[in-house]
Amino acid sequence: MKRTMSEFPTLISTIGHTPMVKLQHMVKNPLVTLLVKLEFMNPSRSIKDRIVLHIIDEAEKSGLLKPGGTIIENTSGNTGAAAAMIGAMRGYRVILTMPDKVSIEKQNALKAYGAEIVILPTSATIESPDHYVNRAKKLATEIPGSFRINQYDNPKNPEAHYLHTGPEIWEQSHGMIDYFIASGSTGGTVSGAGKYLKEKNPLVKVIMPDPVGSIYYEYFKTGKIPSNGNCNYYLEGVGEDHLALALDISFIDDVVQVSDLQAFKTARELARKEGILAGGSSGASLWAALQIAEAAKDPITIVTILPDDGIKYLSKFYNDEWMKKTFGDIES
Ligand SMILES: Cc1ncc(COP(=O)(O)O)c(C=O)c1O
Repeated sequence: MKRTMSEFPTLISTIGHTPMVKLQHMVKNPLVTLLVKLEFMNPSRSIKDRIVLHIIDEAEKSGLLKPGGTIIENTSGNTGAAAAMIGAMRGYRVILTMPDKVSIEKQNALKAYGAEIVILPTSATIESPDHYVNRAKKLATEIPGSFRINQYDNPKNPEAHYLHTGPEIWEQSHGMIDYFIASGSTGGTVSGAGKYLKEKNPLVKVIMPDPVGSIYYEYFKTGKIPSNGNCNYYLEGVGEDHLALALDISFIDDVVQVSDLQAFKTARELARKEGILAGGSSGASLWAALQIAEAAKDPITIVTILPDDGIKYLSKFYNDEWMKKTFGDIES
């Protein structure tokens, strides 16, 4: 049979449809099936490929982003990598602002894709012009032909997860999901996929781990935004110092606080016991999942998102020296 060139996939077509696998060693309770969705298998190695593709496609369709335009975004590195990858493919200039805690691996990956990066102090408050979100907003008003992805407040972010991540999870778990656990920064994943799963089965419990210091835990428990919220923890891409419109807490059943150390130790254990090298937010979600697993008295299935690749943090929590310097002598 004669084949045509259009039968070959392009890189864009490899976004999404990520594998979901069962953990085999870390879950001690035989009543529990713990499934993890390997979002680091997206082409720029994080879940953010899904939302950036959806947002850029829609912006091109509506004319908000025109050929030769500039994509601007505030990012903890993963949305930036997705924007830089798609920008490289489609010929856009890409400018990314980020806090200085973003790992050097993530910063260098953005430059490798040809993006320009602007590094700002993690300690800058949300009122400061040096806060990475404010700087991105300013650049977008100054640069003609620019389009800001605006992941925190863009309804297309949770929509991408409602349209794709949620249905994939439902199908891959054969509808046998009792708990869905996803960390939140913009809240797009937990709200979008959470909404879809609850529509399928209102009994699915949606849980969001939140780093100590972030505002979401207190906001969820009290309805008030704490005045001392910050991002001065080491975890990247999870928790926030400001409220994101992409987060809809009506789809969340509980928020649990997780420390840097709990998350990092769990991620390290995942690599050593299951052979899965994932990022710190994966460790945070898995830590929360393991608490639920331990307490389970009936058979349950838990699905947890692993948002990005551990390769992005080799200089940080996968580095024994860094762990020792940061947390003192710990058993790992
Ligand atoms: C590593 C990592 N984990 C989790 C998240 C949270 O995803 P969401 O923004 O959909 O809440 C992000 C977002 O930046 C991330 O980069």
